Amino acid sequence: MQVKKAVFPVAGLGTRFLPATKSSPKEMLPLIDKPLVQYVVEEAVASGIEQLLFVTGRSKRAIEDHFDISFELEALLQEKGKDDMLQEVREIADMVKIFYVRQKQALGLGHAILCAREFVGDEPFAVLLGDDIIDAEQPCLGQLLDVYRKYRGPVVALEKVPIEAISSYGCVKATGITDRIFEVTDLVEKPRREEAPSDMAIIGRYVLTPDIFPILERQTPGKGGEIQLTDALLTLSREEAIYGCLFKGKRHDCGDKLGFLKATVDMALKREEFNEEFRDYLREVLARG
Ligand code: UTP
Repeated sequence: MQVKKAVFPVAGLGTRFLPATKSSPKEMLPLIDKPLVQYVVEEAVASGIEQLLFVTGRSKRAIEDHFDISFELEALLQEKGKDDMLQEVREIADMVKIFYVRQKQALGLGHAILCAREFVGDEPFAVLLGDDIIDAEQPCLGQLLDVYRKYRGPVVALEKVPIEAISSYGCVKATGITDRIFEVTDLVEKPRREEAPSDMAIIGRYVLTPDIFPILERQTPGKGGEIQLTDALLTLSREEAIYGCLFKGKRHDCGDKLGFLKATVDMALKREEFNEEFRDYLREVLARG
């Protein structure tokens, strides 16, 4: 069955980015000139997703506005003859069919996904998290969908991380099928370094099936008192095979301040419009010591 629907949970409180996230969502932080959320929506669209559900919370209106038509802005750009910009803002509103549901309390990622049950129905679906911006030749979600089509089971995106960083992630124990594809045999949310079953972390892209919903419904709070998707996936892995895909590409952790800063620099260096000037500026800053 083709995966046409994606769920994008954006109801977290974004505490690591306070005070910037006090009244505006983390997902609207701009990398150069595009909010994080748009990079992820573009990845979903490029992977063949046709319908997208945002699971929103308080202070997330800006996301809805971003993907809506802005009549005043369009009229102004038209009047000023700024046709390129006009086309760009129009394309955002036309990108994909978007739906919204509210997670009334931030009870955890697992709970946010449970809020998507009616939207998903009985189809397989993708989940994308806005913290992870992935620069890849083939979109990361597209790589996971290839695995889903071949093995017909839920797939999580994996990345090898330095072992001292593993306690910030969901971590898996997995058996290799190929050098990039694994069967996941154990999952632990934010393990202590000495308890981590491997150095493979789950990052913010998943392909799931509706089998996850009855498990999420029964799921009790785990790490941090939150209903964790990782815990539900562990239960699911005892009932059916779950796969992991070591994706090809570069992930930027934009949920973290330093990661966000690095992503900004990387992205800026890739932009032709300020490539040389920005490179020179970085050299000058480094020379200053
Ligand atoms: P994070 O663990 O990054 O939490 O959530 P957060 O609230 O966004 O950020 P910090 O850690 O406080 O700085 C992972 C993803 O799950 C979503 C978040 O929006 C983020 O995309 N999420 C988390 C929800 O939608 N609802 C929740 O209850 C929790």
